[in-house]
Amino acid sequence: MVTLKDIKENEKFSTLIKWAAKCMEAIGYTEHGMRHCGFVSQTAKDILSRLEYPERTQELAAIAGYIHDIGNSINRKHHGMTGANLAFPLLMEMGMELDEICMITSAIGNHEEETGNVVNEVAAALIIADKSDAHRTRVGRGKYNPDDIHDRVNYAIKRSKVEVDIQDRIIIYSIEMDTSSSIMEFMKIYMTRMMMCEKAARYLGCSFQLVANGQAINNNPVLAARKLNEESA
Ligand SMILES: [Fe+2]
Ligand SMILES: [Fe+2]
Repeated sequence: MVTLKDIKENEKFSTLIKWAAKCMEAIGYTEHGMRHCGFVSQTAKDILSRLEYPERTQELAAIAGYIHDIGNSINRKHHGMTGANLAFPLLMEMGMELDEICMITSAIGNHEEETGNVVNEVAAALIIADKSDAHRTRVGRGKYNPDDIHDRVNYAIKRSKVEVDIQDRIIIYSIEMDTSSSIMEFMKIYMTRMMMCEKAARYLGCSFQLVANGQAINNNPVLAARKLNEESA
């Protein structure tokens, strides 16, 4: 069976990731290279692992996460769909089963907020992992542009993490921001992404909670009930 390790050792995928990162850098986007791919791969896998999905499904999520942005090597627009089309023949060439390829390509083809839908568990994990990668390290060193809202928001995020509360089935995304941007600015550019995460969490039988600087941003009935119970105890 094709593993994440095989994908990492495949020079064609490495070259596509390198070119995708180069193209994003050229148009002034935040970091889209190996760091982003590695983070999304690991986070997507961790989410499914915490929710006790089969190990092979976790591995497919890790692979989808690693190669999800290769379409950026062609164009930012519709990079999910072009990326899926690029991945398909390469995965065939590596001898992966067609059902597994379709799981991966459907997830890649649905990870963009403009055209994406939560079509299966790998797509759901990929969406949450991808949309939760906001962090200071995504602003290239010496490349910070204070006039760019994406740079300001990413630079302001000193810490971010995705956790899965198994007991109450909540996927919690928490960020810590400093004053170089604001939660208002974060919401301006992340609103649709966070709503997509809510849908993805729901597909996984969970709710999604965004916590910014210790404050719950979206309503979460499970957490709200727990807090009320704690206060009245
Ligand atoms: Fe993407
Ligand atoms: Fe991405």
